[in-house]
Amino acid sequence: LPGASVHLNEPHLFDLAFVARLHDSHKGSFGDVAVVGGARGMAGAPILAAKAALFSGAGRVYVASIDHGPAYDNAQPELMFRDAANHNFDGSTIVAGPGMGDSATAIRVLARALDGDSPLVLDADALNLIAASPDLQSRLSARHASSILTPHPLEAARLLGVTAGVIQGDRLEAAREIAARFDAYVVLKGSGTIIAMPDGEAAINPTGNPGLASAGTGDVLAGLCGSLMAQGWPARDAALAAVWMHGEAADRLVAQGAGPIGLTAGELPEAIRAVLNRM
Ligand code: APR
Ligand code: MG
Repeated sequence: LPGASVHLNEPHLFDLAFVARLHDSHKGSFGDVAVVGGARGMAGAPILAAKAALFSGAGRVYVASIDHGPAYDNAQPELMFRDAANHNFDGSTIVAGPGMGDSATAIRVLARALDGDSPLVLDADALNLIAASPDLQSRLSARHASSILTPHPLEAARLLGVTAGVIQGDRLEAAREIAARFDAYVVLKGSGTIIAMPDGEAAINPTGNPGLASAGTGDVLAGLCGSLMAQGWPARDAALAAVWMHGEAADRLVAQGAGPIGLTAGELPEAIRAVLNRM
């Protein structure tokens, strides 16, 4: 297969597609991100993704809540909160799934996102809903804009209709299979995250550590992927760079004594910001 080689995911593998921060830049120069999620009881998940988008340079970040979420986040007053069922997503890169739940509203909003022309990151419950619905699967396969899927092993297992054991038995093959089936970019998470492209190219990621094994770190990764795409990065570079930087940020936090024990997802965005600005 052309392009079917397997690489180590190091910074030379991806292009840093930063938009120059010119003197006359304005927030419209750096893209909009809308995170869709936050069903009742899971309001924190989309906020973590949105915080990652803010701290990685997106111009404007929205949280579009299922089930009437919060109106305001005291820790992140920059975020704008909307009702997902009534929000117009045109022009925004969409990150769908963190804490999204499986309600009829969640399914309706996800179908609308899949049918749109915006780049899309699909995580968590968005992947579970797609795994359970042939209709959503055909909408995903029919997309023209880029889609990045960020499953953990159990979410990947649901997408392929196998067990998590089968996924973990051949992670590279599993990631490639999902990428081929849905013509999408796939980030199969866990120690040694695999990034697989629709053309068969794949990479294994060396950064990151068990400090990341705590709730919400995947939400941060999804927000970072969406933020880079909102800033114009091609999906391939966004997926490779996001995974590398997310792991690198966690490694720096550990070096500073902020983990692996007790590393929290909410600390990652600032560490990611430091990695990005240095690059
Ligand atoms: N080494 C390196 N990286 C790791 C390790 C490890 N040992 N363990 C976890 N990670 C990384 C993964 O690669 C991924 O980037 O941490 C992140 C964990 O992401 P998720 O598994 O999605 O976890 P979480 O953010 O808590 O998910 C939140 O969404 O996916 C659902 O069921 C999930 O309810 C949960 C919610
Ligand atoms: Mg997750």
